[in-house]
Amino acid sequence: MSDPVATLAALLEPVFTELAGGDTADPTVRPSDRADAQINGALPLAKKVGANPRELAQQVVDSGVLASVADDVEIAGPGFINVTFSAEFLAEQLATVAGDDRLGVAPDARSKTVVIDYSAPNVAKEMHVGHLRSTVIGDCFVRLFEFLGHEVIRENHIGDWGRPFGMLIEHLLDLGEDVAAEGLSQGDLDGFYKQANAKFNDDEAFQERSRDRVVKLQGGDEETLVLWRRLVEMSNAYFNKVYTKLDVLLTDDDLAGESNYQPLMEGAYQRLEAADLVHPDDGAMVVTVPGFTNRDGDPLPLIAKSSAGAFMYATSDLACIIDRVERLHADLMLYVVGAPQAQHLQMVFEVCKMAGWLVEPTEAVHVAFGNILGDDRKIMRSRSGDSVKLVQLLDEAIERADAAIGEKNPTLDPATRESVAQMVGIGAVKYADLSTDRVKDYVFDFDRMLAFEGNTGPYCQYAHARINRVFDKAGVSRESVRGLPISIDEPHEKELALQILALPTAIGATMESYSPHKLCTYLYELASVFSVFYEHCPILSSDEPVRSSRLALADLTGRVLERTLGLLGMGAPEEM
Ligand code: ARG
Repeated sequence: MSDPVATLAALLEPVFTELAGGDTADPTVRPSDRADAQINGALPLAKKVGANPRELAQQVVDSGVLASVADDVEIAGPGFINVTFSAEFLAEQLATVAGDDRLGVAPDARSKTVVIDYSAPNVAKEMHVGHLRSTVIGDCFVRLFEFLGHEVIRENHIGDWGRPFGMLIEHLLDLGEDVAAEGLSQGDLDGFYKQANAKFNDDEAFQERSRDRVVKLQGGDEETLVLWRRLVEMSNAYFNKVYTKLDVLLTDDDLAGESNYQPLMEGAYQRLEAADLVHPDDGAMVVTVPGFTNRDGDPLPLIAKSSAGAFMYATSDLACIIDRVERLHADLMLYVVGAPQAQHLQMVFEVCKMAGWLVEPTEAVHVAFGNILGDDRKIMRSRSGDSVKLVQLLDEAIERADAAIGEKNPTLDPATRESVAQMVGIGAVKYADLSTDRVKDYVFDFDRMLAFEGNTGPYCQYAHARINRVFDKAGVSRESVRGLPISIDEPHEKELALQILALPTAIGATMESYSPHKLCTYLYELASVFSVFYEHCPILSSDEPVRSSRLALADLTGRVLERTLGLLGMGAPEEM
């Protein structure tokens, strides 16, 4: 354990347990503004055992355990204990972290199989900004869970099945594969869909053909399946372009579209029947889900089969959960899906629990997120009112980053500049997304997200580049100072040390509530305290051993910055 606050809590636990007469008692250690840490647990414990809290606090101090970590201990107010960590203790903790590739972050005690359902755009339909959010947030959790030692299964649940495919296939035939492929791979999915839809509405013969085509598709007609597959491939080619540009981990191997679950729905439905959960309602077959009501307060059932005898989006999600639990052996399933689908997912989870498919400790969690808004504070649209083309949006971010870098560092060679612009542009988009509490909406604002000052991606990345520059100037490699002793003597060194050591706690808080913004806050604070340290504590002009100690501290900061950026899916530029 590297976080001094957590280390202190662990040291105190047996002391508190003894004072509680053998019951476990939480010492409640928190970071503090007055000292480095505050122990608050004496107050509730005093109440529990009927003792005087200040006397109890004194007993904690007298136990002597604090001597190994603190050089100042003070009992304050009704019985708080303020602790100031000793320089030796911090130096020891830093040395441990510096010698650890994981930078003090232990893998989770139990490795789980975690299925993450994210991105999930729809074939031959706009990939809207909501899919961008799902992709970026999902990617961050893939990286976090993997880092913490879990087995992660990425599932891109693309919308690749359903009635519209009749008209989409017929439109594909009308256009010819080459023309269709051209448009779709450029991301003109919306145009394609709209044209098909317009024909469907105006042209009876086309409508007829489309209906026949759906029947053929559902009947497994080979020629139709070939066309359907072409359509899916063309869309995927575009999605892959977006993924590559976004630098996320998704590949074709992760595709697990709705079509995968079509053959499984009949079985899922039969199991619902066998469990006596479905009943007829207005011709449809539904499951009553306690606790869910519509706007009028009437019970809202989950429709498992429509009155026309068709299975639904919900039915495919039920089949999908059975598959994830029984075939993939998922312990945890994350659904990184927009907030509007909250009710759908909650009902699906509930029905799975009722049917006994989702049994504790196996867990399904909806990691919901809000909207991306345009300048007008409405859901972002392009000027023509269509969806914004994601590739264009990302290209613009990269272009703008390139211009900003050109201004800041005009001597960068073109190849480096190009790769840095990529990292900074995409990093800015990701950071803007991840750094807002995910359930909230946020305004997509290029100027703000690309600023080099303030809580932005470029600001955090710049701290990393700056550390490398110090080493360039020193004429030594970063590796060469790794392992040199770091001593903590100045307040700004101490602040930086405490922030470095808080990485495991920041990751813990991020995972607990599935909140990437907490990791962003940590990163931003690390970049900020480094910048204050850099201003106040000269590195290269100091005498030894201070110079080496500060170089080692800067290198360690750089490693933590790089690791944290990496967990967020962002690059750490060497220079910028
Ligand atoms: N394709 C859906 C959409 O664009 C999202 C799918 C989310 N995942 C799921 N298992 N339902 O809205």
